[in-house]
Amino acid sequence: MTQKKKLIAGNWKMNGGLQANAALIHALREGLGAPACGVAVAVPAPYLAQVQALVAGSAIALAAQDVSQHEAGAFTGEASAAMLRDFGTRYVLVGHSERRQYHGETDAVVAAKAQRALAAGITPIVCVGETLEQREAGQTEEVVKRQLAAVIEINRDRIGDIVVAYEPVWAIGTGRTATPEQAQAVHAVLRGQLAAATEQAARIPLLYGGSMNATNAAELLAQPDIDGGLVGGASLKAPDFLQIIAAAHHCQA
Ligand code: PGA
Repeated sequence: MTQKKKLIAGNWKMNGGLQANAALIHALREGLGAPACGVAVAVPAPYLAQVQALVAGSAIALAAQDVSQHEAGAFTGEASAAMLRDFGTRYVLVGHSERRQYHGETDAVVAAKAQRALAAGITPIVCVGETLEQREAGQTEEVVKRQLAAVIEINRDRIGDIVVAYEPVWAIGTGRTATPEQAQAVHAVLRGQLAAATEQAARIPLLYGGSMNATNAAELLAQPDIDGGLVGGASLKAPDFLQIIAAAHHCQA
């Protein structure tokens, strides 16, 4: 349907180190050439400055993994959107399931984070997804719609500027991927929800995440409403991440 460029974003999570980061970005730069898709890496906050320098002049965009819902002030340990922007951050993950699960982030908090990012000129990658229990109870659609609705509600005028990542929690880091049909079905629901909120729904990138790898990426990315991937484990290995990027290229049509 849409002819937009796909986006492949790596999520390093709490992995990496000065040497490993340099080696990984170096290998990605060597292998990338001029990619036909967008490429980003979401790095741990302490490495934003390092990776900003490492990706300078390349096609790789810098992403952060979280942002504070507050503008500034007495919030020990948090980083504001303005601080992320100071390091050339182009995207920030908000509402990753690990933040929702281990840090108690509610839909309202996630929506506020997306709002802060947008206000600072950073594109939020809003993560939504159901747990295994919720899927088995037939609640998938209801859960992802509720998560996205909170973001739409307070960002209505800017909703065309977000990225959405559908990440079924049961597929994250488990090696168990949603089938292309399962993923496409949820993406179609999300697209419909966005279409009800904005005329720009067709251009909002909808990424799939959850055990995407060099083997399954092409099939997932070939689905009409899958506009890219949010890649965890496989983004830490340059050859695998490059293969996923190549698969996105292939699906460009
Ligand atoms: P995974 O992680 O690719 O390792 O499953 C995806 C994510 O959590 O963003």
